Amino acid sequence: MTDTTPRPLLPLLPMAGRTHGNRSAVTCHLRCGDACSVAAPNTTDTSYFRDVAAQALSRRTVVGAGLTVTALGAVSASPAAAGRATGHGNGNGHGGHGHHLDLEFDAIAPAPVTVDDVTVPAGYDWRTIIRWGDPILRGAPTFDAAHQTPEAQAGQFGYNNDYLDIIETNRQGTRALLVCNHEYTNENIMFPPGTDPATVIRTAWAAHGMSVVELRRRRRGDAWTYVPGARLNRRITLDTPFAVDGPAAGSDLLKTAADPTGTRVLGTMNNCAGGTTPWGTVLSGEENFNQYFRASGTDPREARYGLSATQDSRNWRSLDPRWDATTPEFANEPNRFGWIVEVDPSDPRSTPVKHTAMGRFKHEGANVIVNRDGHVVAYMGDDERFDYLYRFVSRDRMRSGDSRSDRRHNKTLLSEGDLSVARFTGDGLGDGVSDGTGEWIPLTKDGRSMVPGFTIEEVLVYTRLAADTVMPTKMDRPEDVEPSMHNGRVYVACTNNTDRGKAGKEGPTEPNPRPLNKDGHVVEITPTNGDHTRSTFTWNLFLICGDAASAGTYFGGWTGPVSPISCPDNVAFDSEGNLWVSTDGQPSAIKVSDGLFKVPVEGPERGHVQQFLAVPSGAETCGPVIHDRDGSVFVAVQHPGEDGSWEAPQSRFPDFVPAGSTAARGQFAGPRPSVVQVTRG
Ligand code: FEO
Ligand code: CA
Ligand code: CA
Repeated sequence: MTDTTPRPLLPLLPMAGRTHGNRSAVTCHLRCGDACSVAAPNTTDTSYFRDVAAQALSRRTVVGAGLTVTALGAVSASPAAAGRATGHGNGNGHGGHGHHLDLEFDAIAPAPVTVDDVTVPAGYDWRTIIRWGDPILRGAPTFDAAHQTPEAQAGQFGYNNDYLDIIETNRQGTRALLVCNHEYTNENIMFPPGTDPATVIRTAWAAHGMSVVELRRRRRGDAWTYVPGARLNRRITLDTPFAVDGPAAGSDLLKTAADPTGTRVLGTMNNCAGGTTPWGTVLSGEENFNQYFRASGTDPREARYGLSATQDSRNWRSLDPRWDATTPEFANEPNRFGWIVEVDPSDPRSTPVKHTAMGRFKHEGANVIVNRDGHVVAYMGDDERFDYLYRFVSRDRMRSGDSRSDRRHNKTLLSEGDLSVARFTGDGLGDGVSDGTGEWIPLTKDGRSMVPGFTIEEVLVYTRLAADTVMPTKMDRPEDVEPSMHNGRVYVACTNNTDRGKAGKEGPTEPNPRPLNKDGHVVEITPTNGDHTRSTFTWNLFLICGDAASAGTYFGGWTGPVSPISCPDNVAFDSEGNLWVSTDGQPSAIKVSDGLFKVPVEGPERGHVQQFLAVPSGAETCGPVIHDRDGSVFVAVQHPGEDGSWEAPQSRFPDFVPAGSTAARGQFAGPRPSVVQVTRG
């Protein structure tokens, strides 16, 4: 049967061109529920910085303008420093064991948005490890894009890979686990026009969630290949049972007709960034969950999370009433999303957990550091314009052993602890630098609410509203937040906030110093005495992003040439402690493709931003993993060709089936979100 009137599978959107945020209208709609096109849900007038001056903008004139890498003038990255530290903990490069590769490179020139390819430095190659639709579970069929089914998708790699880690599992470095989440679906390019709506919806449920995939290679330094049907392979979808733990588990606020216990939720969705814990589990943030529900949106407890009567364009409620929060039976279903989830990739039968102690908001992700007293500390961003930065400190201490009982104990560390929210105080701009002091304002302590008028359950389920009452600092969309295992400082990517300073909105503050901030910045936080449990810290802006020729940019004090960089989103560290930053939104902000950038945070090259990679047309660079001692960099290429349609794809990555030809078995003529490994050529 042929549909002669091709049409989008979702309602037509007012999506000509770009939105006033930084992504294409399609991505804004499908990923974030048009978060940037509606009023920011934080309408409070309580920001600590409402009185702080707007003169921050002039700061750059003190610092002096940097230079920009041009298409013809790539800059040379520094030789790798001698004496590498041993990486440990999440995000640090590892490998080694007598192998001595590194990642010296000459920065690439920014890639035009029309380049439908992964661009890597001279001397490097890239290949895909796994693509949307590749079979993972035993018995899963070969990908057949034109005839996808929910059953096939549930055994295949999901859509729009975002957070990524590659966790080596043997000493030889020949086995690893790839752990990835799948943030959202783009039905317009996933399905042929005319596909049965129920098939579209159920397949989308199976394309969300997470994947665990075993990798193999012959020897260290080789590229990885994935093993279909391997024992530890796992798909987590919107049908996978999750346990709810922590102080809000079993709360009336979490009960529905389908789960009168308030302790068991089916699925995770809109998972964005994440982190890998020292005990080997993976954390993932449930971010723009609001857009999947129909809600009244009139209750402030819904409105503060962006829940509304108009956003559920995927129409999931047509197949399952739990997506309709206007009914009494499922009024609380949205409360069961917006959490940090923890998955143990070493046990495919384990039940993943939603940790209520870590609060509910639009969680970008969570990254953990072990404090010197053994408490574990997680840093977390709430990715929305004018929302906040949070910290969780575990009640219990980590056990360093890896016996079964140690591991069982460590897997409970995020179940109980103290949640706090950040307030930044600037010290004025007379010193020419955005910097100052800060404090963590307690929201919960010792299992009790620290917010007058809120029970502990209310603080955890309605964390945004509880935080609103204690005057935290409104940030420019805090995304990935990651502590460095090398210097103990914490790096916060604030991706952008084009509403800052608009009429009726908060203006520039010292930690968010630019009005109409389209390029974003990176905050560097130093805990007092290096103690991540202390209530105070100092801070400074490490990067104020953009094309360096433009006013207001700052690169850690570095004044030499830099690669232009905009919209920092995900961050990672290599084994030497260099920061790697991936971007989401450069095509709009600075008219080049998104990419991955290395920037030293110490030494004479502190702030020297150098572009390593660019992603194909329409894509965002996600989940960077830097195994520099292994000579490898991994990225999750998300939403390639996002603005296209089934009939007119705007990217052919990664199969590159020539226009007009028939795709080979298992291949696809349109774009496929994929995990890419970059190696020395
Ligand atoms: Fe899913 Fe905050 O980006
Ligand atoms: Ca200052
Ligand atoms: Ca992100």
